[in-house]
Amino acid sequence: MIWAIAQCAPLPITRKFALLSYRHSFHAGNYADVLKHLICVEIFEHFLKKEKPFEYIDTHSGAGMYSINSDQAQKLKEYAGGIGLIKPSEFPELNNYFEVIQKAQKTGFYSNLNLKNLDFYPGSPWIAKQFLRPIDRSWLFELHPEDYKFLCKNVSPSKKNRVQDINGYDGLKQLIPVQSKRCFVLIDPSYEVKTEYDQVVSSVVDAYKKFNAGTYVIWYPVVERERILRMERRLKSGGVKNIQRFELAVNIDDTQDGMNASGMIVVNPPWTLFKKMQLLLPKLADAVGQNGKGGFKCDVWAAE
Ligand SMILES: C[S@@+](CC[C@H](N)C(=O)[O-])C[C@H]1O[C@@H](n2cnc3c(N)ncnc32)[C@H](O)[C@@H]1O
Repeated sequence: MIWAIAQCAPLPITRKFALLSYRHSFHAGNYADVLKHLICVEIFEHFLKKEKPFEYIDTHSGAGMYSINSDQAQKLKEYAGGIGLIKPSEFPELNNYFEVIQKAQKTGFYSNLNLKNLDFYPGSPWIAKQFLRPIDRSWLFELHPEDYKFLCKNVSPSKKNRVQDINGYDGLKQLIPVQSKRCFVLIDPSYEVKTEYDQVVSSVVDAYKKFNAGTYVIWYPVVERERILRMERRLKSGGVKNIQRFELAVNIDDTQDGMNASGMIVVNPPWTLFKKMQLLLPKLADAVGQNGKGGFKCDVWAAE
């Protein structure tokens, strides 16, 4: 099978896609992706422990698979500061994550992270597909017309695996509460506009009010710390309980260099996640930190 890989330049999108200039192909495999995807893998493993079906909802899916050798990935080489620094031999606790990365490779063998053997980096919908059983369902939303096309090719839509080019926030609203009563929702926007921080929180608060047993996961970039503090305040005042936060930094806050850290907010996390991340995050921070300035945050924003 050949992955459909985003190779084109960023599209200037107009009208209803006015803000969609972000392409994940420039960033695939960076330290933010590593944190996001290893947490997703932990959550999938947890969901598979029960025989009952569950639903996976990816509000911002991206293209599903990315070529490390594409012009976009090569432009900034962000993967080199992410997956390129996390060696499988030094992180045996991430075996399940590395197995998925391995599956995405067509040739060569990806071990001891020899970057020349890393040809592809998978996106969240493709990772999800490796875990979903025939009894489970997935709902993937992607608004960018090019990435939507790639996504369809990379994950083969079916009745149980729906792919739609509609606004992911609207998609989530329509699906909650889910039929199966078990769900993992990933909200991973590009935050091209500042209002997106509020939009993400509002959509989780609304979904939580309708279905408070779901696992809701929000990815965020740290560009201005105040935006993250505001997310925390608004989630708590919105009545959301059982919230944990895991953040990985490559540099100290507010260096004016853009993103210095990124994090995952997990509502109703697997009970094993916190302990695992407490041990893992210091190691990850050492591995990806720039000039010894790596850091992490691992805390409980709201108790159960
Ligand atoms: C950060 S990327 C997603 C990466 C993906 N979740 C992964 O981990 O591989 C964000 C994606 O959301 C898409 N997008 C932006 N706004 C959207 C919206 N309102 N609804 C659905 N997709 C959107 C963008 O086109 C982009 O492909």
